[in-house]
Amino acid sequence: MLNLGILISGRGSNMEAILKAVRRKKIPARPALVLSNKPDAAGLAIAEKLGVRTAVVESRGMSRAEYDRKAMAALAECGVTPRNGLVCLAGFMRIIGPQFVKRYKNRILNMHPALLPAFPGLDAQAQALRYGAKYTGCTVHFVDAGVDTGPVIAQAAVKIMPEDTADTLSRRILRQEHRIYPMAVELFARKRIRISGKKAIVKSPARQKNKRL
Ligand code: GAR
Repeated sequence: MLNLGILISGRGSNMEAILKAVRRKKIPARPALVLSNKPDAAGLAIAEKLGVRTAVVESRGMSRAEYDRKAMAALAECGVTPRNGLVCLAGFMRIIGPQFVKRYKNRILNMHPALLPAFPGLDAQAQALRYGAKYTGCTVHFVDAGVDTGPVIAQAAVKIMPEDTADTLSRRILRQEHRIYPMAVELFARKRIRISGKKAIVKSPARQKNKRL
């Protein structure tokens, strides 16, 4: 069984969507740990209420390499290993360093609130508004050594309305995030994602079945 480690920094609504999909048996995985870099992250209480183990590794004043080492140790202790774990970044507002990415190669997913490769980095919703884009959305992708550059698994588009503020737009994007993040985790858990170069290719269930014949 796939062991899930979810990394958060705040509200945790994407984490909640994933955990609830696991509880509904949509995702065949075991939620092993919710790890926050902020002790006051609201998502911690939600995870505990859902019966999921939580831990805090505070990042303040710590170098990236040191933080990553501690986070990897906490994950591994709960069974989220490079062999049978999946790390989901869900509103985790820190960049994961090269050692972490290398160790969990193709086993770290991230949700970004824009249609990558447009508007990477911070405040993606405000970036889209400032640019005057007519559509934006959200992207679930594998984490590689760059910032928001890894293979794309799923995307959803959201129309930008003339009266939108960063707040109203973020709320509509968030609804799509809650739909596609659990979907991407499910695809991973069902081994339906293959990486080919820069691309994440989703295998159809029918093709998988034929292969077994
Ligand atoms: C989400 O909108 C997510 O896309 C964004 O932070 C929010 C977290 O919300 N992530 C990033 O911007 C990552 N660069 P949540 O804590 O309620 O899931």
